[in-house]
Amino acid sequence: MAEKAPAEPGEPPAVTSLSIAESATANPTEAKATEQKIDPWSVSAATDAQGNVLAFDYEAISKKWNTKLLDQPLLERFERLTGHKPHRWLRRGLFFSHRDLDRILDVYERGEDFFLYTGRGPSSDNIHIGHTIPFEFTKWLQDVFDVPLVIMLTDDEKALFKDSLTFEETMQFGRDNAKDIIAIGFDVKKTFIYSDLKYLSMGGHHMLLNAWEFSKAVNFNQVRGAFGFDQSTNTGRIFFPNLQCVAAFGSSYPQVWGHDAASDLRSKKLAAIPCLIPCAIDQDPYFRLVRDNAHRMRFPSPKPALLHSKFLTALQGAGGKMSASNPNSAIFMSDTKKQIQNKINRHAFSGGQETLELHRQLGGNPDVDVAYQYLTYFEDDDAKLDNFAAKYRAGEMLTGEMKKECIKLMQAYVANFQEARAKVTDEILAEFMRPRKLEWGARKVARKE
Ligand code: TRP
Repeated sequence: MAEKAPAEPGEPPAVTSLSIAESATANPTEAKATEQKIDPWSVSAATDAQGNVLAFDYEAISKKWNTKLLDQPLLERFERLTGHKPHRWLRRGLFFSHRDLDRILDVYERGEDFFLYTGRGPSSDNIHIGHTIPFEFTKWLQDVFDVPLVIMLTDDEKALFKDSLTFEETMQFGRDNAKDIIAIGFDVKKTFIYSDLKYLSMGGHHMLLNAWEFSKAVNFNQVRGAFGFDQSTNTGRIFFPNLQCVAAFGSSYPQVWGHDAASDLRSKKLAAIPCLIPCAIDQDPYFRLVRDNAHRMRFPSPKPALLHSKFLTALQGAGGKMSASNPNSAIFMSDTKKQIQNKINRHAFSGGQETLELHRQLGGNPDVDVAYQYLTYFEDDDAKLDNFAAKYRAGEMLTGEMKKECIKLMQAYVANFQEARAKVTDEILAEFMRPRKLEWGARKVARKE
C-alpha cells in the first residue's frame, strides 16, 4: 500500500504530438505543416505544408507510447489456443497493437477466469460504423474466449467534457446507445452494460470505493500529464479518469461474480481477476494510468491487458474523422439503402484515376480507396479482397465497380443491424443493465477464496 503518490508520473505524458516527418519540417517554407495529435478527446491527423491531411502514423504512436505491435507469432498462438482463425480485423491490422495480450493467453491456457471490459462515451444517439466496429470485435472475442464482459457507458464523462451536454441528455443517449450495442448480438447471460451515473447508486458501491481509493494513489501531476489538464479544468474532469480506470478491476462488479454487493468489504479475490480491454488507441492514456497504479490498491489488481484499434477511415479518406455531426463523413446505422448508395458514390474518396482511359492505363490505388478500405472491414474472404486489389491496380476494375461491391456489403450490414435493433425492447435493455451474476464457460476453473 502506498500512502503518497509520486510527484512524477511513471510514464511519459500521454498527450503527445507526433511528427510523421520531423526532419522534413526543418525547412522554414514548410512551417504550415502540423503534427498528428491523439488524446482521448480529440484526434487529428498531421497535415503537410500545403495543408493536405496525411494518414495517421500508427507505428509512430505505438513507438511513442511504448505499446507492442501485434505480430504473426502471437496471432498464431491465439489460433492454436482458441481454435479460431484470428478475426479479419486482426489479420488485416485494424487491431494493430496490444499490451500484455500474451499474458491473457497464458491465463486462457491455464483455464482461469478473466473478463473483457470496453465502453462507449454516449455523446449522441446517432451511431455510425466507426462506433459499431469495436463492439463487433468485442462480441467476437466474447464468443471465442467465452468470458464475462462489462460495457461502461460514460454518461458522466460526456457531460463533463462537453459543455453543451447535460447529464440528463447523456443518460438518454446512453440508453439509446445501449440498445444499439445490444443489437450487435451480445449474449445477455455473459454481458453487463451499465451507465456510470446510475450503476454507482444501484449496487456499484464497490466500484465507487475503488475509484476513491485509486484517486488517493493518483495526484494531479499524473493526470495533468496524461490528459493535458490545467488549473481551470473543472474538478469533475479531474476525478473522472479514476472511474474509467477502476472499471478494469474485477472487484468493481461483485454481482457479476455472484458476490454480495451490499457488503462494505471489497473482495481481494475478485480484485485479482485479469482483464482484457479492446479499445481504440486514443483510450490508451487512461489505461496506462491504471497499469501504473493497479498494484498500489489495498487489494492489488493485475495490470489490465489491452488490444488497440486504429481509427476508421472517414468517407473523405485517410486522416479524416468519422463524425456524428457530419452526415457525409460516415455510414450511419440509421441510413437507408439509398443514402448509403449516394454517400459512397458521391463522397467516398477514390483511389482511381481521373479518367477511364488513365485508369485502364495506370490502374488505381486500393490503399487510399475508401470503398476498398470499407471492403477490407467487412468482406471476410481474403482471396476475394486480394483479387479486387489486384484487378484495381491493374486497371481492370473501375472505381464504380469497387464502389458497387462496397455499397452491397454496407447495405447488408446496416440492414442486418436495423433488423436486430428493432427487436431490442425496453425489457431486454433492462435485463442487460441489471447488476446480476453472469453465466459463462464450462471450462472455467473454480477459484479458491
Ligand atoms: N472514454 C470512452 C469514450 O469516450 C468510453 C470508454 C470507457 C471506453 N471505458 C472504455 C472505451 C473502455 C473503450 C474501452 O468513448
